[in-house]
Amino acid sequence: MNQPFTKPEFADSADAPAPGARPLDAVPMLDLQRQYERIGAEVLAAVERVCASQHYILGAEVEAFERELGEFCGAQEAVGCASGTDALWLALLAAGVQPGDQVLTTPFSFFASASAIARAGASPVFADIDPCTFNLDPAQAECFLRGGRRDKLRALLPVHLYGQCANMSSLQRLADEFHLSVIEDAAQAIGARWGSCKAGSMGVSAAFSFYPTKNLSAYGDAGLVTTRDREMAARMRRLRNHGSPRRYVHEELGWNSRLDAMQAAILRVKLKYVEGWNDARRERAARYDQLFAAAGIASTGGPAENAAPIQLPQTSTQAYHVFHQYVVRAYRRDELREFLTARKIGTEIYYPIPLHLQPCFVYLGYREGDFPQAERAAKEVLALPIFPELTEEEQRWVVKSIADFYC
Ligand SMILES: Cc1ncc(COP(=O)(O)O)c(C=O)c1O
Repeated sequence: MNQPFTKPEFADSADAPAPGARPLDAVPMLDLQRQYERIGAEVLAAVERVCASQHYILGAEVEAFERELGEFCGAQEAVGCASGTDALWLALLAAGVQPGDQVLTTPFSFFASASAIARAGASPVFADIDPCTFNLDPAQAECFLRGGRRDKLRALLPVHLYGQCANMSSLQRLADEFHLSVIEDAAQAIGARWGSCKAGSMGVSAAFSFYPTKNLSAYGDAGLVTTRDREMAARMRRLRNHGSPRRYVHEELGWNSRLDAMQAAILRVKLKYVEGWNDARRERAARYDQLFAAAGIASTGGPAENAAPIQLPQTSTQAYHVFHQYVVRAYRRDELREFLTARKIGTEIYYPIPLHLQPCFVYLGYREGDFPQAERAAKEVLALPIFPELTEEEQRWVVKSIADFYC
């Protein structure tokens, strides 16, 4: 976003930036304390239940959580594990990915989307993103697939970034044509939908993270894989427990990636609230859209074609977005971020370095310029505070502050 920006003319006072915005001392990026104030008693009762049982690893709480989460996602099977990163690794192994294989994914995601592929012994390969949604672009994936470099390609791993599903209908069509498994990275997308299908019910399997910042979050690390395939689920249950179907018998090399009963019990409490929380996130995203429109500093066009300094997140018509993050593109992004930090307004950059340019992936042979949309997004994106308890007053102050920076 290198275009100049001229100060907007406001037709009348009703169009002035974020009317009614009152200066605040700070706006956090995420405040889990507010959630804890509402559900703390239930969480503590769940912790007490686990302590009373003296059963801390796997067991009844984990099985109940797996059942409830599977039902929530519309997946027949669910396998809890230690983190979202491990969930991806388990899903890749269970899908038959082997050393020497390749897995196609997006270059614009959290590191684990690609590192889990490498940890499974395979090579991540990338196709560029759709600049409107930041998700893997099916047209770019198709170019890769028709480009004839696919003899070792075993799977597609789309990421539902920021809480919006990747274009699963187009990607599944490609996967069918080229005989590939689809593994969803649904770490950021619990409750999101593509058409009528929930994240976690579309691929052969899907990985979820319950890292504390996620829409459904544990009080520590936790993850889970959903699948409709019973055999894959059975294999993942062995792999998460040292490849062991029964005590001290190890059929293959697995790892310790078991889910704690304590985390499962806490997640069971929170799962009941997640739809309401997602609705609240969607309401806050819509409110940001309105406030930015009223401030006259935003557009919803593509990334380049106009002079508004803020470009709002775009939602595909088929997507039910759960706004794990509300991410804008911002002109002079880094200066804006410093300005907001000085006002104690939390922001984040997800993600400043695309995966193909990470130092540890130099051996893959990619260079700057290979994925221009991902590289451009890395320079322009800025995540603003969003969580279910964020107040209207806080949102008004965020938007007013951004308008103050530009005007
Ligand atoms: C897209 C994506 N994939 C994978 C992960 C890995 O999850 P975890 O941090 O639970 O290992 C995360 C979360 O941080 C993520 O955002």
